[in-house]
Amino acid sequence: MHTTYWKENVIYQVYLRSFKDSDGDGIGDLNGLLSKIEYLSELGIDTVWLSPVYLSPNVDNGYDIKDYRAIQPEYGTIAEWKQLLDELHKRSIRLIMDLVLNHTSDVHPWFIDAKSSRDSRYRDFYIWRPASEDGGPPNNWTSYLGKSAWTFDESTGEYYLHLYNAKQPDLNWDNPELRAEMYKIMKFWLDKGIDGFRIDAVNSISKDQRFPDTEESKLQASGEPYTKNGPRIHEFLREMNDEVFSKYPIFTAGETSKVTEDDVLMYTKPERRELSMVLSAEASKLADLDEDQWQSKEWTLDDLRKVMLKWQKDVGEPGGWFGLYLSNHDQPRMVATFGDQGQYRNESAKMLAIMLHTLKGTPFILQGEELGMTNHPGLQRIEDFNEQQAHAYYDVMVRERGEPEDLIMERIRRKSRDHARTPMQWDDSPNAGFSDGTPWLPVHPDYPEVNVKAQRDDSGSVFNFYRTLIRLRKEHPVMVYGKFDVLLEDHEQIFAYRRYDEAEEWLILLNFSGEHAHWELPEKDAARLEGASFLLGSDPDGTKPPCHRTGTLKPYEGLVYQRLELPGA
Ligand code: NOJ
Repeated sequence: MHTTYWKENVIYQVYLRSFKDSDGDGIGDLNGLLSKIEYLSELGIDTVWLSPVYLSPNVDNGYDIKDYRAIQPEYGTIAEWKQLLDELHKRSIRLIMDLVLNHTSDVHPWFIDAKSSRDSRYRDFYIWRPASEDGGPPNNWTSYLGKSAWTFDESTGEYYLHLYNAKQPDLNWDNPELRAEMYKIMKFWLDKGIDGFRIDAVNSISKDQRFPDTEESKLQASGEPYTKNGPRIHEFLREMNDEVFSKYPIFTAGETSKVTEDDVLMYTKPERRELSMVLSAEASKLADLDEDQWQSKEWTLDDLRKVMLKWQKDVGEPGGWFGLYLSNHDQPRMVATFGDQGQYRNESAKMLAIMLHTLKGTPFILQGEELGMTNHPGLQRIEDFNEQQAHAYYDVMVRERGEPEDLIMERIRRKSRDHARTPMQWDDSPNAGFSDGTPWLPVHPDYPEVNVKAQRDDSGSVFNFYRTLIRLRKEHPVMVYGKFDVLLEDHEQIFAYRRYDEAEEWLILLNFSGEHAHWELPEKDAARLEGASFLLGSDPDGTKPPCHRTGTLKPYEGLVYQRLELPGA
């Protein structure tokens, strides 16, 4: 096995709650996932990232953990989880678990004890501060949910910090005993044979201990920059690596937001012994306004290209590594944001898939992305939404600030994370074959057409296109390790680039617009690439003639040309 096998892997995110329900309670579960393992094999993915399945009151759908060592009963038992792990391994599919290090649930026994008395042995596992002089919170930080990041605990007379919900108190990583406990939890799962972790909000675990006010009080500021890439973050990660990760044949993908290229290099260069890769939200959030993530920002292809170039050149070339994604459970569906979820759903889903599989980086697929799943048109009223951030935003904006409900609901309809969480569409039977009961979130109404069963049998489907891309990654090291150069850098519609190694060169042309787009290759590239053969394209009409120096892409079309006979080869 190559020591950097995780660079070659394609990772599939299973949001278990919405994957497959086996017992009719409307909630996906481990046995449901177990019944669909053949599907994962057929798709060809290498690793499953399982979103949190631990015991949790579900304020944030599992990202609020009550017991890190127990499985949530509605998902199944530890025995079923172990069977799942074994069955995945039998098919050479790895399993990584979601590790939530920044906070626990407020009903975690540590926090219950910590707030019982200032003398509790767990008091310092969390972050407590006295009130400021005026009796208010210790500083002006707001949580990601829009109100103060501090909640007052009446019985012990101090505030505790929570970058998310008040029911998700932040852990104090400056305390070595807390760190030791967390390492034991990691080993608990690693000793059962898992293959690594996706680590939640990892670059938030070291806070600036001065707890200064932020300059501007943004709606979801969460103490940034004092809570990101903090003063001891690299020390903590190195310790984590020395104490835990390095002792197992595993890899880690750390969720990081607000990182520069230098930060990513520090997190992921192998000699630094911290993380294998990071997941940065920069590209997936291009359409969100920084001051208020619920508001949309116009994005251009140039914005996207710049982010991608930065990752390719300034992180990838000097030896850093990152996951590639535009979709996860925290974003609306990528086709809605970066493609066209109407007329060109198929084309744009495939075009985006080409990009995510042919750039340097490890591709991450959110379940359903491989079908081209889109945002749910039926999520309309606030009561239709499940996720806590939508409700918190509604409370702050409509109830507290008196903003027009229509305006706020329009933002929530467009941006809610629930779009990414609607049930997986297996077939055209009731509830898309997801559940015999009432699904916890409604099934998308397009399921009679957009489902696994229909797409399996259709050679031009998004599903079969993903299968091809995943297979190609195993056959062509150029997709993983090849060099990268951008072409047509000023083109307003087409993102064009080449990947190359000693064996082959690929030209990738992606039309990010709903119009036809014309290209003309620069002289030096045209000389080399003219005549390159068509390898793959989003157009289901099959094969295309070899590459010319000029050509036209259809709306949202993606094309890949391949040249094998390289000069001097
Ligand atoms: C990031 C997770 O992906 C998201 O779903 C969660 O709400 C926050 N971290 C808090 O854990």
